[in-house]
Amino acid sequence: MIHTVVEPATGQPMAEIERSSLSDVDEAVARAGRAQRDWCAAPPAERARVLLAIAAGVEAESETLARLEARNVGMPIGDARGAVAGVAATFRYYAAAPERLLGSTIPVAGGIDMTFHEPIGVVGLITPWNFPLSIASWKIAPALAGGNGVVLKPAELTPLTALELRRLCVAAGLPDGLFGVVVGSGSELGAHLVEHPSVGKIAFTGSTAVGREIGRRAADTIKRVTLELGGKSPSVIFDDADLEAAVDGLAGGVFGNAGQDCCARSRVFVQRPVLGEFLARLEVLTRGMRVGDPLDETTQMGPLISERHRRQVAGHVEGAPVAFRGDAPEGPGFWFPPTVLCPIDDAHPAAREEIFGPVVSVLVFDDEAEVIRRVNDSPYGLSGSIWTRDVGRALRLSRAIESGTLAVNSYTSVRINTPFGGFKQSGLGRELGPDAVQAYTELKNVFVATT
Ligand code: TAP
Repeated sequence: MIHTVVEPATGQPMAEIERSSLSDVDEAVARAGRAQRDWCAAPPAERARVLLAIAAGVEAESETLARLEARNVGMPIGDARGAVAGVAATFRYYAAAPERLLGSTIPVAGGIDMTFHEPIGVVGLITPWNFPLSIASWKIAPALAGGNGVVLKPAELTPLTALELRRLCVAAGLPDGLFGVVVGSGSELGAHLVEHPSVGKIAFTGSTAVGREIGRRAADTIKRVTLELGGKSPSVIFDDADLEAAVDGLAGGVFGNAGQDCCARSRVFVQRPVLGEFLARLEVLTRGMRVGDPLDETTQMGPLISERHRRQVAGHVEGAPVAFRGDAPEGPGFWFPPTVLCPIDDAHPAAREEIFGPVVSVLVFDDEAEVIRRVNDSPYGLSGSIWTRDVGRALRLSRAIESGTLAVNSYTSVRINTPFGGFKQSGLGRELGPDAVQAYTELKNVFVATT
């Protein structure tokens, strides 16, 4: 069956590709399993060499990949170029892992005891549509480095760059079949992968609702599971903060990728004395956001991913207190203007639920203890920012806020070389950073009697 991929900026078809069947999933898992046996037996330096060659292949085709990602996601081309550079960097970073996957020796009586990090086997990867290539690479690179085979199911809205990446991997020397891609719906193909008896682990990024369902289904085969889920991340701005930097950064911090970012700082808590100045600056930023064609070099924000998603985002804003908003193109495409909600109560659904669009709730606070309590009053705990010049306060909040990733005087959430993941209902396990490969291995203990 044919699957039509739609370009969000025009609402028009941009590609037609073959949809996979359940038996294609079975075949991809079987091929990955066969190829994995040789891959994990290959010398570590050989696996490293292939991962470096993939990084070079991605770099060699970076402009083509970036344009494809920009068109399929609706992501501004500058951001898409950054994402593709990050994919190459991810493969390069994990190329160092096969030769450094060290075990331990443990002092015991009567012999020698040692540990090994063994591959899991075949790992199923399920990814969302918001950063398709980046999020896929955060899983593929460490999984391959750990000696596994992988089967990736990208979101059916954005499968194009995953297919290109598979082609580049084979061209770089990755054994054919070791990395498979299946295209189709999550409830069908994704669920099949989760239940598959020959898949040892599922690494999933997506909504908390689907993550919960995956956790339930994976329990039947006691699969290992990593879940990177939703968020409603705060930014806490104290009255001594560099207000210009705190506001200017929100162009990326909350409106980046049209707010379709699990780490979007969609709850901004502002200390009362600077609320007026903060809102005045934010209004200038919001009205000045350049929303338009993702391939235009000057564009800061593109469209939403689909008409269905645009309706969902609009539903969250309906009846909510809009303080001001920016512009968005009219006509074809799934456009939504950057929107600021204020004054708004913590209990308002728009201030509690993940909207996944360019919508920010501005909330006012008076003191430190109060803002910590209010920030933590959320089922999510993925990311967040603290803006202050008081180092002690920054550190107190960094420890008190229930979140997997925090940034002080910055909106950065993700770095390839630091761990990323959520507290509470934002996830289970961590990706990226030096330990990610271990999440794609099983720890084995071996005792050798010497007496
Ligand atoms: P989901 O609807 O959860 O979809 C994510 C992936 O899961 C897609 O490939 C989807 O397939 C598949 N899927 C859907 N139902 C499934 C099922 N029953 N079994 C197995 N797979 C299934 O999320 P989305 O709308 O694409 O992405 C937005 C969400 O992802 C937001 O909540 C966002 O916060 C979260 N997100 C989190 C992070 C991190 S790192 N924490 C990063 C990015 C996004 P189809 O869509 O093809 O049907």
